[in-house]
Amino acid sequence: MMNAGVSARLPAARAVAGVVARGANLDVALNAVCAAADPGAAPAIRSLAYGAVRGYFRHEALLAALRDRPARRLDPLIRALLSVAFYELEDRRSPEYAIVDAAVEVARAGGIARSAGFVNAVLRRYLRERATIDARIARDPAQRHATPRWLATRLRADWPDRWESILAALDAQAPMWLRVDARRTTATRYVDSLHEAGLDGRSEPRVPYAVAIDPPCDVSRLPGFADGLASVQDLGAQCVAFALDLRPGLRVLDACAAPGGKTALIAEREPRLARLVALDVDPQRLERVRENLRRGTLAAQVVCADATEPASWWDGEPFDRILLDAPCSALGVIRRHPDIRLRKSAADLAKLPLLQARLLRALWPLLAPGGRLIYATCTLAEAENHAVLADFLGSIADGEVVDPALWPGWPGLGVRDASGVQILPGEAGADGFYYAAVSKR
Ligand SMILES: C[S@@+](CC[C@H](N)C(=O)[O-])C[C@H]1O[C@@H](n2cnc3c(N)ncnc32)[C@H](O)[C@@H]1O
Repeated sequence: MMNAGVSARLPAARAVAGVVARGANLDVALNAVCAAADPGAAPAIRSLAYGAVRGYFRHEALLAALRDRPARRLDPLIRALLSVAFYELEDRRSPEYAIVDAAVEVARAGGIARSAGFVNAVLRRYLRERATIDARIARDPAQRHATPRWLATRLRADWPDRWESILAALDAQAPMWLRVDARRTTATRYVDSLHEAGLDGRSEPRVPYAVAIDPPCDVSRLPGFADGLASVQDLGAQCVAFALDLRPGLRVLDACAAPGGKTALIAEREPRLARLVALDVDPQRLERVRENLRRGTLAAQVVCADATEPASWWDGEPFDRILLDAPCSALGVIRRHPDIRLRKSAADLAKLPLLQARLLRALWPLLAPGGRLIYATCTLAEAENHAVLADFLGSIADGEVVDPALWPGWPGLGVRDASGVQILPGEAGADGFYYAAVSKR
């Protein structure tokens, strides 16, 4: 058994180092370290690693203020364990001396004992100069909200009047949202069952079937979770229901379906569809679609194929609704997945509009006249949202935008542009999502 000061901090630092050094997905890195850690340490490991990754770029700014050489030359494990310690100092749940002592001990236990003195010196200097350094960092919105410079610049260009509040919203912790199964309950009834189970939840009248749960809890405590009565899904993601305008007898294609959150929503909201196809190119992620359908006793035809090559999988029967929940830079969900800020680069973003345009062009011929294609992303980048749509609309003669004001029940969320609507992160507690609907003449 490890010393208590090290048992959660060292695995947390290792998970963070995986994200820093290899661009690992934080949840995947956490699963690996938690499996090898002391039993019972997982919640503390996750909380430390998430806190460190959420604040990582602010911690880099702290380090830059505390030493002359650039932080990127440091061993990733040292950078990671310092980030864990900075997070704990910001969080103020443990005494300062205990946090510094534990970080030094983690350096020794982590096989980087030669750096223990350095870790000690950096953290003690920070404690001496904290007020001055924190004040300097607070003046720079990118550093204050732990955002890499390229991303802050990008958001400032796309959202000149709102970029600072967007950075702040992306830096906050996301609430937990549930979608309740419309076939079996209502949000109000589900909130009552949460109260009976000793949990606190509230419905969101503007988005029927959405329930916020506060504080978040493990899904195993949610009434009916095992059989799909409630599923975890952000409020912004649930807004796809308004754009889809589902009715009995429709043939629906969910073209980028995995892990199946929106497929399950579609199947719950309109059980009398003529057809529901859930397509994705990633076989492993498709397993999650199957699991989600099984859990909710929902039906859909699951297809593993490339949506840009319909000749390889389409049987020729047109669809009345096509949902293209496109692969995107996911900037709108950074508060839930803070590792996106470390894993994505400006170069990654630059490639996405091409793929999004290819998907739109390939799927449009599969839509029946009178049908509707929904273009959705969970990003805030104009180049992946309105710009992709505008190019696409300019390339087809038989499509027109369906004004979001005409989507039945649209709750009035978001900022309109000429093709769709951008829900901004934090608005009504939602993540950032973009939706546009194009109908075929
Ligand atoms: C934003 S995620 C979809 C999330 C999903 N709609 C949900 O609500 O759970 C994008 C998905 O697009 C898939 N994808 C990427 N390129 C694709 C392609 N060419 N054909 C089909 N699926 C693709 C990815 O595997 C990924 O699962």
